[in-house]
Amino acid sequence: MKNQNATLTILTSGRAIGAEIKGINIADGIDDETFKNIEDAFNENGVIVFRNQQITEQHHIDFTKRFGDIGPNTFAGYHAHPKFPNEMLVISNIKKDGEYIGNPDAGHTWHTDQSYTERPPRATILYAIEIPTRDGKPLGDTLYANAAAAYEALPQDVKTHIDGLKAVHNIAARKRGGDAPKRVNESLKDKYPDVIHPVVRTHPFTGRKSLYVREGECIGIVGMSEEEALPLIKDLSNHITKDEFIYRHQWQPGDLIMWDNCTVQHLALKDYEPDDRRLIHRTVVLGTKPF
Ligand code: SIN
Repeated sequence: MKNQNATLTILTSGRAIGAEIKGINIADGIDDETFKNIEDAFNENGVIVFRNQQITEQHHIDFTKRFGDIGPNTFAGYHAHPKFPNEMLVISNIKKDGEYIGNPDAGHTWHTDQSYTERPPRATILYAIEIPTRDGKPLGDTLYANAAAAYEALPQDVKTHIDGLKAVHNIAARKRGGDAPKRVNESLKDKYPDVIHPVVRTHPFTGRKSLYVREGECIGIVGMSEEEALPLIKDLSNHITKDEFIYRHQWQPGDLIMWDNCTVQHLALKDYEPDDRRLIHRTVVLGTKPF
């Protein structure tokens, strides 16, 4: 295995979130010292990007496991990778024999991954294989919002008001664009009953606090009437996605990008046509119960 530490460069995006890590070839394997620097950059920047990677599914899975156990693929049976059904999900609008080969509607509303589970993923790791373009410009950008910076920017009276509150997360609450995710979410409702997580959660590695609440994912706040809870959830959600907290990722095939679901919310833009092929592989790292 190559020691890649000497060539590693971390370039922050200049936005509230995100950094590109240069000088790493994931397929070569990553020694412990280099990995430590990558993990620190991940915890610090919330989103990290490695461009121009040529990796197999196994490389992707091995890289994921460096950060912890592979998290459950909650949509397994629907859009699982045929060779790695327990580890990898396929995101794609490509059809084979009339059926989508992956989830065509992943992430088209703001969310943090699998917050409807007891232990939402620490990280989500995507590897881009095909990215749609128009006139040479990539389409289907993904937007990332820094929910820790958003928390820190709140006025003190709002911080005091939301301190100790817990929100109810529901798998079927998602206002998804397409039919497929709605169908999937409805069918998984029994397997994933509502869970309760703090509205302000603490990062398990850095101790940083972030907002962990999202309109369309949270259906209420414990001990609060719906009339009071839903506008509060909406206001906090709108605050998180203010432009000042956002990094917009313009994809290239060969990008490997990973984000921290504790501090980051994301949205995949669907500004491409049904025939514009998009193919991405996705893994998740199991996280801790939010506290
Ligand atoms: C997701 O929400 O996991 C999908 C993001 C994307 O397709 O860019």
